[in-house]
Amino acid sequence: MAGRGSTVERRLRPVAGFVVATAGAQNFLGARWVPALLAVTPAQRRRQVALRLLAWSPHYFQPDEHDRDAAAERNRRTRQILADDLLGRYLQPDDDVLDVGCGPGYLAAAVAPRVHAVTAVDVSRGVLACARVLNPAPNLEYLTVEDFRRSGRDVDVVYCIAVAQHLTDEVFARALRDWHAALRPGGRLLVDVVVGDPDWRTEQQWRADRGLVGRAKLRFALNCFGRSAEQVRRLVAGAGFGELDLVPISALVDVEDDVASQHLLVARRLDVAVLPAPTPSRGLVVDVPAQAAPADRLGQERLGLERLDLERRDLERVAPTSVDVDPDLSPNSRSK
Ligand SMILES: C[S@@+](CC[C@H](N)C(=O)[O-])C[C@H]1O[C@@H](n2cnc3c(N)ncnc32)[C@H](O)[C@@H]1O
Repeated sequence: MAGRGSTVERRLRPVAGFVVATAGAQNFLGARWVPALLAVTPAQRRRQVALRLLAWSPHYFQPDEHDRDAAAERNRRTRQILADDLLGRYLQPDDDVLDVGCGPGYLAAAVAPRVHAVTAVDVSRGVLACARVLNPAPNLEYLTVEDFRRSGRDVDVVYCIAVAQHLTDEVFARALRDWHAALRPGGRLLVDVVVGDPDWRTEQQWRADRGLVGRAKLRFALNCFGRSAEQVRRLVAGAGFGELDLVPISALVDVEDDVASQHLLVARRLDVAVLPAPTPSRGLVVDVPAQAAPADRLGQERLGLERLDLERRDLERVAPTSVDVDPDLSPNSRSK
């Protein structure tokens, strides 16, 4: 059956995955030979080669998913549901949108018909090459994070799905500042986050784990970090966002995916300068303008969803960082 791996392939997959994983600066499929291989593959074979490459990474296909076509179909189906029933609530037809950590592009391709344009970015050149093969669309462009930054483009909406739980606080804080910079004034932010779930270890707990597995997971960015709602608020407000809501995703969408047990963080770019802090500690507070009632509050209150008002104390400064770790992430690599 097409796409079903042999026993040998199944045994070799973890090894191959590790090689592919580590070949590219800590991001899966990040090695330069991955896009080069796809470029020389005859057009009629490219889709199958792209799926085979994705299957090597534990981050895109589940380890027990031996039928690559079925795995691709699962990705397509779940991402279509997320685009329609989750992100779709917050998108307008004339929006320019940034998809951060787009992976193989199933979500970006599902969002594209709903909006004016999608720029889908990832740290992995290899997965971007796969996405271009598997999920092209006329108003969808795949770029590296760096190329997007250099383009000077801005957008109305930034969304980031199945990524943030793998980021350390340091990397997440830096990403939030990048997203703030990419958004037009008043732009919207949509990110799934793990909050208040005792089953998910916090970053501190992972760092305290001196076992081989724990350290290896940290080294290769294979962890998933749980956070408290307060911690998420601090990070997001510290990057210059306001009008924060944390909405249980299960209240919005019925989907068989890890994100269903998480929360959707909804926030808006505040147009106040976030001043550099003398220290990364609590204390620096900037003036917050009165929050206007947004026209498109999307009825969260009606839905009885949790409202997290921005308060002055939320505008703590998160110290600038310069971490260049580019973890590769997956909804399928949930490591509690
Ligand atoms: C599990 S995939 C999620 C794909 C897609 N968002 C989805 O939900 O189908 C996570 C992706 O995030 C990418 N990634 C990791 N860290 C990133 C970062 N700092 N900026 C952009 N992308 C990142 C990884 O390379 C990987 O392709």
